[in-house]
Amino acid sequence: MTIAVVLLLIVVASVAFHAVNPWWTTPLASNWQRMDDTLTITLLITGLFFVVINLFLAYTVVRFRHREGRRVAPHAPESRTLERWLIGGTTVGIMALLAPGLVVYANYVRTPHDARVLEVLGQQWQWRFRLPGADGKLGATDARFVSAANPFGLDPADAAGLDDLLVPGDEVHLPIGQPVLVLMRSHDVLHDFFVPPIRARMNIVPGQVSRFWFTPTVAGRYEALCAQLCGVGHPNMRGFVVVEDAAAYDAWRTALPTFGAMQLAQAAKAAQAAQAPAGGGGRVDQGRALADAKGCVACHTIDGSTRVGPTWKGLYGKNESMADGSTALVDEAYLRSFIRDPQARHVKGFPPVMPKIDLSDEELAALVAYIQSLGSPPAQAATEQKAAR
Ligand code: CUA
Repeated sequence: MTIAVVLLLIVVASVAFHAVNPWWTTPLASNWQRMDDTLTITLLITGLFFVVINLFLAYTVVRFRHREGRRVAPHAPESRTLERWLIGGTTVGIMALLAPGLVVYANYVRTPHDARVLEVLGQQWQWRFRLPGADGKLGATDARFVSAANPFGLDPADAAGLDDLLVPGDEVHLPIGQPVLVLMRSHDVLHDFFVPPIRARMNIVPGQVSRFWFTPTVAGRYEALCAQLCGVGHPNMRGFVVVEDAAAYDAWRTALPTFGAMQLAQAAKAAQAAQAPAGGGGRVDQGRALADAKGCVACHTIDGSTRVGPTWKGLYGKNESMADGSTALVDEAYLRSFIRDPQARHVKGFPPVMPKIDLSDEELAALVAYIQSLGSPPAQAATEQKAAR
């Protein structure tokens, strides 16, 4: 009897919790109402079975409980009729669960002809966005072209890529009411681009291009997440999708740099740096670009706040405490050895998770110069430390 009551309570509590639980989906901001409908159908079917099975269990526990003097139930291991009913019922139930999802998925990857293209590039641990230029075509890419100066890996020889618009930062804009085809690539591991109010998400498998489409229907600024555990910086892998009217979108789009213009600017900068090799400015810029391209920024901030690793603000010239109780002055030699071999020693208070990153000697020097540019001179750091006390 106790078991029957417990089963009954579980059913009532589950249904009641569903009615009051605060974890509902965010308001829908795209055309994918059918995505929500599919989930509702699944919830109703599984919920119905949950309730019916548990109530049936409670009933049998009470109805067929052990009683003194009662005769044992007849042995009936097989019942053709019952089996047919069960097989038929299960088949219909599973079909009802799967069919709506298949229909929606087929629509999800069948893009309307007038959809504009947006490329999403995932890498540990940030999002990048690229739009086709005036020709409406994205230029070819290849992993071997990826560098700090060319984080998308665009093929410099492909003319179609020269007018591609490269979005700086992690925020992309979209015009309201116009279908968008999202093409997704990854430079390293499995990621998943997910914008909850759009209901759109898709795994991004390295080496292939995934796709889906949607039409944004409500203006707003929505957070884009990574929905696959992709390493220690995974929770920091965030971006934004801004949905706005056509005029605002056009203004934003017009201001974007093209791949061709960026190449020219970089060539000019390189020529400048070659003329004045002693000047640190170009190197610091290169270091900043590297920190971005190599994903350092997912774990290290430059504003003093702490993420997975120590902030770079004021790091240079600081006396850092190590996990083994020793201290070390953060200077050029320290940074170089630490970046080259992050597991050799561990900074106190931080998990030992820094990955080894492939850098040429020149890139390492640029990155160190950049971190150095964010540090305080020792005298100032000492005064700050005194003031903090
Ligand atoms: Cu990328 Cu999680």
